Amino acid sequence: MSLRSRITGTGMCVPDRVVTNADLVEMMDTTDEWIQQRTGIRERRWVEDGQKPSDLAFGATRAALENADLEISDIDCILLSTLSGEHDFPGTSFFLHEKIDAGDIPCIDLRAQCSGFLFGLQMADALVVSGRHRRVLVLGCEVHSTGLDKTTAGRDVSVIFGDGAGAVILEGTDAADGPGLLEVRVHSEGKHARRLWTEAPSSAAPVRLTHEMIDDRRIYPFMDGRFVFKHAVTRMPEVLLETLNAASVKLDEVDLFLFHQANLRINEFVAQKLEIPESKLVNNIQRLGNCSAAALPILLDEAAREGRLEAGQLVSLTAFGSGFTWGSAILRWG
Ligand code: UT7
Repeated sequence: MSLRSRITGTGMCVPDRVVTNADLVEMMDTTDEWIQQRTGIRERRWVEDGQKPSDLAFGATRAALENADLEISDIDCILLSTLSGEHDFPGTSFFLHEKIDAGDIPCIDLRAQCSGFLFGLQMADALVVSGRHRRVLVLGCEVHSTGLDKTTAGRDVSVIFGDGAGAVILEGTDAADGPGLLEVRVHSEGKHARRLWTEAPSSAAPVRLTHEMIDDRRIYPFMDGRFVFKHAVTRMPEVLLETLNAASVKLDEVDLFLFHQANLRINEFVAQKLEIPESKLVNNIQRLGNCSAAALPILLDEAAREGRLEAGQLVSLTAFGSGFTWGSAILRWG
């Protein structure tokens, strides 16, 4: 009997601390007007001192388990996507594993940046459909705020990012024509890796972390913003259509489109290009900023809890990010 994987629970967790554009004006030479005009962002959440990535992942996991009416003992495997690991090693998933008391089930971190959740979803789908694991917990989790250059030198990057975690539980169903994941497609293009990256600490250097790296600000993310923007608005429509085509779904059959929350202007551009009506879009970047790998599972959880998703509806998720990486998924909700 062939299995299909299906999302049976969603959850999210963001810090309580709200950082408005006005708060950023106190730290660097920027304006609320610039940030809103260029990105759509009004505020984001940043962790309090001492709040860790695994704390956010823990909150999202608990919410997803509760939503699915499951216990941690019902989960067989954890895949956690992040670009802002709690420590150099081991991965954040291990600190989550400890917090949720996950026994000896396998966990692993995936590093595919803003598209990380879709890479995780594709791998979880393969694990479930092959029968290797019955239920997989898939997370995106980021604490950006502790790694940003909050001076004017870093303003093009630091005003965008927020902290948060989102989680879904993927499990097998034998109802071949029922709700579930219809298709996930992901891509990478490493030749653009340095267009959006954090160079240091680096194992490619004779010493991983030096005072010079810190003084040169190579420990902070660098982004060639316009280059990234251009690629995002090309690759996102491309992979979205590729995925729908592979699943034999027409664009106008999709009920809801969830796009990565990097910049509201990117999403408006993509929607316009594909002639997607505004009524079929949801965004939360205005409130949460760009939470990289956590953005899509958070958006999915919010859409589900706010009643934007009805059983049987077709939902498309699409992302683009550092690497470069990009991907799209289409699923039937329920
Ligand atoms: O999530 C992963 C994928 N990431 C993305 O998809 C992000 C893609 N890129 C973008 O969204 C945009 O490129 C940004 C929002 C990051 C930047 O917008 P931009 O229109 O590309 O701005 P820019 O970097 O070209 O800078 C334009 C001007 C510059 O001033 P001059 O040289 O024209 O005088 C910057 O110094 O805006 C200035 N600027 C700022 N001014 C006020 C840059 N950042 C700020 C700021 N506040 N925060």
